[in-house]
Amino acid sequence: MGKKSVVSTNKSKEKRQARKLEQRRIADGMTYVTKANKLEDIASLCKELLVYKNNNLQVEMYIQRMSELDKNVLQWAIGLTERNMKTLYETCAWGWNRERKVEEMTDDAAWYLIAKDNDKFLAFSHFRFDMDFGDPVLYCYEVQVEADGRRRGLGQRVLRVLERLARNTRMTCVRLTALTHNPSAAAFFRACGYSTDDTSPPKEEASHYEILSKSTCLDSNDGGEPTES
Ligand SMILES: CC(C)(COP(=O)(O)OP(=O)(O)OC[C@H]1O[C@@H](n2cnc3c(N)ncnc32)[C@H](O)[C@@H]1OP(=O)(O)O)[C@@H](O)C(=O)NCCC(=O)NCCS
Repeated sequence: MGKKSVVSTNKSKEKRQARKLEQRRIADGMTYVTKANKLEDIASLCKELLVYKNNNLQVEMYIQRMSELDKNVLQWAIGLTERNMKTLYETCAWGWNRERKVEEMTDDAAWYLIAKDNDKFLAFSHFRFDMDFGDPVLYCYEVQVEADGRRRGLGQRVLRVLERLARNTRMTCVRLTALTHNPSAAAFFRACGYSTDDTSPPKEEASHYEILSKSTCLDSNDGGEPTES
């Protein structure tokens, strides 16, 4: 038998407090995610970014849940993903599995940002509000631009919309998975301010993909309304 010293008592107290704070952080995060997924007028959080005019593009964007998405639009999005990504998936450990991709893209948790120039669909993003490694995040599952719409700033605008949504729903960051052998996407994400996330696996564990993110710069202890930096 012994007696706990004052130092060790203080240390356990600190540990207990840290655990409580962490539990609180996660509970708050889950509340933000639930709230974001229930939004009825999500466009109002990013209205002025949903029109994009540049380099002969006159793009309008809208955001819908998977369940609200027109079937033809969903088929176009699946087709574009297949055209853009099939070969890249086939040349890495994941392989291309159309069924699995369709299952992922038609999950009830999926949100879609659709960009069109008059009647032509040009780009989309599949994203979700979710808890990831204990963080409330906007996870970008897909950002795809038609070949003839590229290098005109549209991809960047799509990410800006996601970043605004993330900030205004109190997500800590926009997070995504990128294939390491997709150099144009890597250049794109870096140019848009994304960097390797702490949750990215070490290269020895997974060399064909990495996790990138861009913080919303929200202080998790800040009770006030999020603002854009
Ligand atoms: C990657 C992708 C989304 C980029 O979209 P985009 O609309 O062409 O990108 P933007 O015009 O907004 O580019 C913004 C900046 O990113 C960088 N960038 C974009 N594409 C690039 C490329 N192919 N090579 C090098 N840098 C690139 C540039 O710095 C660019 O600015 P600049 O044109 O003024 O030099 C698009 O090329 C695409 O859909 N590719 C196929 C699918 C894919 O790889 N998706 C990402 C993984 S899910």
